[in-house]
Amino acid sequence: MSKILIEGNKRLSGEIRLQGAKNSVLPVLAGTILCGGECEIHNCPNLSDVNTSLKILSHLGCYCTKDGEVVTVNSNGINSFEIPDSLMREMRSSIVFLGAIVARMGKAVISSPGGCELGPRPIDLHLSSLEKLGVIIKEDHGFLYCEAPNGLKGTEIHLSFPSVGATENIILAAALARGTTVIHNAAKEPEVSDLADFLNSAGAKICGCGSDTIEIHGVKSLHGAKHSIIPDRIAAVTYMAASAVTGGDIIIKNAMPSHLMSVLSVFKEAGCNVTADARSIRIKRDGELLRVPTIRTLVYPAFPTDAGPIVIAMLSLAQGTTVFVENIFENRYKYTEELKRLGAKIKTEGKVAVVEGVKKFSAACCECTDLRGGAALVVAALATEGVTEISKIEHILRGYDDITGNINILGGKAWIEH
Ligand code: EPZ
Repeated sequence: MSKILIEGNKRLSGEIRLQGAKNSVLPVLAGTILCGGECEIHNCPNLSDVNTSLKILSHLGCYCTKDGEVVTVNSNGINSFEIPDSLMREMRSSIVFLGAIVARMGKAVISSPGGCELGPRPIDLHLSSLEKLGVIIKEDHGFLYCEAPNGLKGTEIHLSFPSVGATENIILAAALARGTTVIHNAAKEPEVSDLADFLNSAGAKICGCGSDTIEIHGVKSLHGAKHSIIPDRIAAVTYMAASAVTGGDIIIKNAMPSHLMSVLSVFKEAGCNVTADARSIRIKRDGELLRVPTIRTLVYPAFPTDAGPIVIAMLSLAQGTTVFVENIFENRYKYTEELKRLGAKIKTEGKVAVVEGVKKFSAACCECTDLRGGAALVVAALATEGVTEISKIEHILRGYDDITGNINILGGKAWIEH
């Protein structure tokens, strides 16, 4: 089983180029199913989740190529509406393919995506919304049999929670529906807007993304399109924290600071010097890392849940205690047990984590519990004297494109052992 080894306590400096956003490229790849003709996706990160998505598209009959950061998908040859259980299990977020497959093929068969490391991952909002659009869904032995015998018809949908995935699934299903769909209490994350930008470049008529009311005017068909994926804001937070914990000074190119305003303010409160222009972020830390009294995760544009583990790793080395409240997922603190192996002092109770800063960590063997928990271990290891071993790195490889390469470009020492 592969592991990442990091020889820590090296001050990071220099410049890296930020990868494209995992949570944008996945729904955009699902969107290619709707497009007649070839789609060319640029700034595509090299991730195992992207590879799984391409396997799903190929299984459906699409023709896919990948050359560096450019992926092409031609769905003209699509001839299936089923995603095999093995591929659904490889990537929980495969649920985002459901709306697009039903919209294109009139039916879909997928297995219920299991829970994940963050606790149960219900899909009730996805399914109830698709049913409102005219999809009939039957569950049997863990499989979802979906059919739209009369096609998809636009309607008003009020989401009880602004679910990112459910909002994306509705947009994908409604793009080719008859009539107009209005989503109330829609998710406002930048990745939702990026999906809409891609679909509009293929001929869709979607407006209101970034607000809590999105309108999708169904069109007869979509054509091929070219699109460049937005930068990965959570990967940006990861490298920012890496600089902060090593007293470093780095520049992150190809970033979009406007997607990270709530996080930039936390880094500044923690004593970092953060400067940004439209497409880059510079972060250095000269003085001590300071505690941030309270941090709460909420939906965009508030502090994002995915940044939580990474910032907790950083503030585990701050002067003083931070109270952290996770309001989005039920069980997102599993990784803290691994951080404690390095010397962190964290007490969790339900949604709350009390993070008591310590002077330093000591090298240990630890294992990833999930994607962002793994990233938290990488950040912590960078600040640790000696060599830290991080196993179960398949979690990290789902969402980070060459994280060890970037660490080494910045003067760190990280490598993968198979
Ligand atoms: C997306 O997950 C992201 N994943 C997550 O990133 C991110 O943490 C999350 O949005 C919140 O920003 C992708 O985009 C692939 P949600 P998603 O639907 O769509 C509940 C990462 O590390 N809910 O907004 O699954 C759910 O249980 C990952 O990159 C329902 O109850 O998030 C959770 O408590 C982790 N019923 C909350 O809503 C539903 O039908 C947020 O879920 C759907 C969701």
